[in-house]
Amino acid sequence: MTSSTDLGFVHRFVPGAADGPVLLLLHGTGGDESDLLPLGELLVPGAPRLSPRGKVLENGMPRFFRRLAEGVFDQEDLHRRAHELADFVDAAGRAYNFGGRKPIAVGFSNGANIAAAMLLLRPGTLGGALLIRAMVPFVPETMPSLHGEPVQVQAGEVDPLVPRSQAEALAELLRDAGANVTLRWIVGGHALTRSDVDAAKEWFGFSSLSRPAGQPQ
Ligand code: MLT
Repeated sequence: MTSSTDLGFVHRFVPGAADGPVLLLLHGTGGDESDLLPLGELLVPGAPRLSPRGKVLENGMPRFFRRLAEGVFDQEDLHRRAHELADFVDAAGRAYNFGGRKPIAVGFSNGANIAAAMLLLRPGTLGGALLIRAMVPFVPETMPSLHGEPVQVQAGEVDPLVPRSQAEALAELLRDAGANVTLRWIVGGHALTRSDVDAAKEWFGFSSLSRPAGQPQ
């Protein structure tokens, strides 16, 4: 395991299998680079795992971009930070030898929102994304082409922070951009549950089987 402040982000990298997916783990508000490492190992045992810490502090809690209020994002900061994170992912791919594989983001809440922003702003960066409790980060002026990239949105049926309409709109937006989107409703609120893990494991199994041969991951 490498813990580092290189490449512009405090992060941890756990090396793993030379084939199969590389995971990019993106924590929620108040989390850090260690939070989702165990989840990544549960979802795809043995996969390389890259986990950065968000650079914005909100009352001491790390986040990936600024917000003005709950669910109201500082768009200028969000755009800038999404590009910055995409640059970090590209640089990490070279530094840690991903062998051309594009990481699959596993993001929770604020981490899922920045992953969605990266899909929309930097469509070449990720090979897919699991977005747990995500919202629409913004509607892009120019729609990117996501070329059938696998995306799963996992939404809580009674999430007090993310209205059902937001999860539905995000799935629709990513579908319009050409991603292969599934929207999974999880019995629960904003917190990550065992059902999330089960749904995510199922999706990872399916998306790796359904990915066309030769397509970068
Ligand atoms: C959070 O608590 O992190 C929000 O629900 C999502 C965000 O602000 O990005």
